[in-house]
Amino acid sequence: MDIQSQASRQGVIKKYREWLPEIPDRAIATLGEGETPLIEASSLSERVGARLYLKFEGMNPTASFKDRGMTVAMSRAVAAGSRACVCASTGNTAASASAYAARAGVGCFVVVPVGKIALGKAVQVLAHGAKIIQIEGNFDAALKLSKRIAEELGDVTLVNSVNQDRIEGQKTAAFEVTEALGHPPDALALPVGNAGNITSYWKGFSEWREAGEAGGAPRMLGFQAEGASPLVAGHDFESPETVASAIRIGSPASGEGALAAARESGGAIESVTDEEILAAQELLAREEGVFCEPASAAGVAGLLKLAGEGRGPEGVVVSVLTGHGLKDPDVILGRTRLPEPVPATFEAVAGEMERFMP
Ligand code: F0G
Repeated sequence: MDIQSQASRQGVIKKYREWLPEIPDRAIATLGEGETPLIEASSLSERVGARLYLKFEGMNPTASFKDRGMTVAMSRAVAAGSRACVCASTGNTAASASAYAARAGVGCFVVVPVGKIALGKAVQVLAHGAKIIQIEGNFDAALKLSKRIAEELGDVTLVNSVNQDRIEGQKTAAFEVTEALGHPPDALALPVGNAGNITSYWKGFSEWREAGEAGGAPRMLGFQAEGASPLVAGHDFESPETVASAIRIGSPASGEGALAAARESGGAIESVTDEEILAAQELLAREEGVFCEPASAAGVAGLLKLAGEGRGPEGVVVSVLTGHGLKDPDVILGRTRLPEPVPATFEAVAGEMERFMP
């Protein structure tokens, strides 16, 4: 029997092939993405007043949800004979594109706002040998430039989520959530930046509902960072600002998709402050043992905010933790640091422990 078909973590293309665009076997570029854990969060469930599960997308090969879409986009680029790929990024798309391009043997160019990429993500791009082009501008400018590059240079594929193949791959997370619970959740909370991911989840839930694979679909609750919340304000932000660098985006390319997901599902797009995001990140790490990057905590921050205002969702709720906390060490080091050393003696070590024993 074929080893690949028996193996777990065979990648989302093989697992969900009938729901995805056509990809010939020879073109598949996979790192075994998907099949990420759905973790029950008992402590946070009490705080949000619902049965909360965490879909930990930081457990993907490059430690973010982008890998689900990237395997599809990169494989289709290979099938089409692309020489290289290009993307704009706040960091995670760049890290994922770099890894999958290395795997596929195509060139990779990532266009990023100078100095605005979290350290772990920049290190990933460097490790995979992709070319980083830092621009003196923000993500929105980088995306415009990348789109134009891909249009004018024929055999270069744009692998941002404006590429529909990315949306198709990312919708597989909705299938996994539904399979793990045995039914769709009552609500799904997630961060919103360029708005591709909420569009993908809604497409996945809708497709399974229409195909009779699921009896319903969740309310979609998208959360933007207050300083980068164009979908809440109803207009683009020229200079978006937030500690959650992954979602520092002022003009979301899939904004219409996000608004449609909220409207059609009876959900909402709202905002949370940086303080609420960092508090949620800390709660997740300290009470649930799950370390996600700041942007990823926006969903939980939003649920805590809604619960505090008496309008939180009830029943079974899933919050998507989009990227791993190790991506952004500076945010943690900005609010805590390593302690001073103590002498290498039993007394000193035991003394330290006594001071901090719970
Ligand atoms: N969470 C993380 C960790 C992200 O990296 C992103 C987007 C989002 C949430 C928002 O997802 O854009 O589909 O609404 N990061 C992109 C990037 C923009 O370039 O890595 P979205």
